[in-house]
Amino acid sequence: MFGFGTTNSLTMDKPHPDSLLDTGVQGVIGKPLDRIDGPLKVTGTATYAAEYQFDDMAYGVLVGTKISAGKIVSIDVDAVKSIPGVLDVVTDFDQFIRVSAQGGATDAPTQGVKDIAFFGQIVAIVLAESFEVARDAAARLPIVYDEAEGQYDFAAHRDETRIPPDDAAPAHFKQGDVDTAMADAAVTVDSTYVTPSQNSAAMEPHASTAVWGEDGSLTLYGAYQMPTSDAQQLAKSLGLSAKKVRIVARYIGGGFGSKLGIAPESVAAAIAAKQLGRPVKAVMSRPQVFEATVRRSNTEQRVRLAANAEGKLTAIGHETLASNQSTEDYFEPAGIGTHLLYGGENRLITHDLVDVNLVLSGSMRAPGEAVGMLALEGAMDELAEKLDMDPIELRKRNDPKIDPEKDVPYSSRNLTRALDEGAAKFGWDKRQKAGTRREGEWLIGMGVSSAVRGNMMMESSAKVEIHPDGSATVSSAMTDIGTGSYTILAQIASEILGIPVANITMSLGDTNDPPAAGSGGSWGAASSGTAVYLACEMLRGKLAKAMDVSEDGLTLKDGNAIGDNRSTPIGELVGKGLEATGHIKPGKQEKETSQAGFGAHFAEVAVNVITGETRVRRMLGSFAAGRVLNAKTARSQCLGGMTFGIGTALTEDLIHDTRTGKLVNHDLGEYHVPANADVPQMDVHFVDERDIHANPIHAKGIGELGISGAGAAVANAVYNATGIRVREFPITLDKLL
Ligand code: MOS
Repeated sequence: MFGFGTTNSLTMDKPHPDSLLDTGVQGVIGKPLDRIDGPLKVTGTATYAAEYQFDDMAYGVLVGTKISAGKIVSIDVDAVKSIPGVLDVVTDFDQFIRVSAQGGATDAPTQGVKDIAFFGQIVAIVLAESFEVARDAAARLPIVYDEAEGQYDFAAHRDETRIPPDDAAPAHFKQGDVDTAMADAAVTVDSTYVTPSQNSAAMEPHASTAVWGEDGSLTLYGAYQMPTSDAQQLAKSLGLSAKKVRIVARYIGGGFGSKLGIAPESVAAAIAAKQLGRPVKAVMSRPQVFEATVRRSNTEQRVRLAANAEGKLTAIGHETLASNQSTEDYFEPAGIGTHLLYGGENRLITHDLVDVNLVLSGSMRAPGEAVGMLALEGAMDELAEKLDMDPIELRKRNDPKIDPEKDVPYSSRNLTRALDEGAAKFGWDKRQKAGTRREGEWLIGMGVSSAVRGNMMMESSAKVEIHPDGSATVSSAMTDIGTGSYTILAQIASEILGIPVANITMSLGDTNDPPAAGSGGSWGAASSGTAVYLACEMLRGKLAKAMDVSEDGLTLKDGNAIGDNRSTPIGELVGKGLEATGHIKPGKQEKETSQAGFGAHFAEVAVNVITGETRVRRMLGSFAAGRVLNAKTARSQCLGGMTFGIGTALTEDLIHDTRTGKLVNHDLGEYHVPANADVPQMDVHFVDERDIHANPIHAKGIGELGISGAGAAVANAVYNATGIRVREFPITLDKLL
């Protein structure tokens, strides 16, 4: 996989204090460059998965079940096959794998969908010469069910829990004795917060176009966040060798977790294309995306805080109930940030699962922290009220020096600076006591929350080539899901190689290129950025050799290699071309340091005393996430996260009918994400920070840090405005009247 001689491989076992991004003189790193893929997107020339066209292509429309539990008795395929234009109906369900917890594929189920696990489960694909005919026939496909009782009501079954195996977070963690600490404490909070199911709601629906080659290989044009592992999943579900499957995902219209693993349309398109002997395109409808991909689990979170009279925490309990199907072990890791955010001797952080017959729960936009922080940071706000202490001061008093559970140092941690710098910029000193500020019929309040999101490194690789004309190409199976990967990876290569960004061609999203972990868990920039860094580091060494100067004596800038009082165009040093592959793997640093991004969210809201309507007036996010690679794309990532925070606090609510399991609001008309008019003036501040333990580029993950805590700041502002503590999200107007 990693060719000998041209691969620069690094396992992150030691800190990496020196960075070529600090010594580079191209001056491009960190700059607010426009996205290099921006013009393609705004002119409609970036090709998304549903836009690939092939001669002789057939259209597939998926069919989901109309019941939530039971069995299929029969599917009357012949009833629709006679419709003119219909080519076939594939009901060979054994190969319709399901997306699982981490969005990953589960093993292919046994023959036939014997048991329907949730409403909308995909059980057939109708193929036709046109999309319209396929859609019509899909709507008419007669399916006879044998319906059974299912569990749709979380609240009714909340006492029937099971302990899942450890996942991204340990399912159960205990240190000391929270009960005793609570009994002995000067001040305590014991509150239960409830959050609803949510949907990733990426703008682009899941879509796949499958094309088989004569050699039995499959190319799938899909919308996936992690093409390398997605191709492996797809191969497994089809019984193929991974080498036979190529996924191309050059542009992705948002993923937010729902595209981490393959969804039903990819497998359906692949099987159908094989069966027909023609390329097949399958695009999920918006309701199908809601019903048959993944949801974020609803949660019920009990948070207990014990503190002494000075506000120093002596205990933190964060006990989460989440839901999933009985065959699934993924749990919403709501307590994941609680492990490392605050000190406190006694700790209990647990996650238990309640079985439901609802669409799978899986990773969505900062799985864990996004909803976990609503509870933890709401409870911290409650504690500050009880102590009559400024909530920022309370957080600073509990900012630990070392990880409170692992007894290791933080790789970098600037929570206090993020709070202080943010407070100054936001004008926190204007905050008043709860319920005391009114402008006409609006109550005004300010809220704060800490932000935390674990930093991850994932094995990734990238190839960089320098061509004789002095241009370069960066290629990797990494993706850009709208985050800016194309741009920041080009900036890293440009900074180290001294080749202008305009002369760098990016090839992302193709598994024919070197494998990468893709986009997820905010690991993309650090992981793939390091892979590009390492490739460029090796190329730099080769250029020094070609120049016959020491590496220290080599300066690369504006396409020229300068050293020993000589300047040569870089292209003249590479012969027929030079290439190197960079390869990074996580190592001991992950265990020897506790790694996370930290920050602070500030919100000001106005709540109408007559209607109960909440309007967010302004927000500020203050983040310490290591080096900022591109000030514009980093800011945009944070703005997006903060916008999700508004949704988490005020609007997002995926509602299942507790009698039938049917999804009540399966489209963007009824599932409310904040739209333009809901999003106020927002500012982003970055604390100057470098993380030498995380990776050689000294950056930490940023996308999900922008989410984690944002909703809590809004909720705490609502409390400050009204004096009403809503613990059941979203905070709709009925809960404030
Ligand atoms: Mo993220 S929920 O890992 O796309």
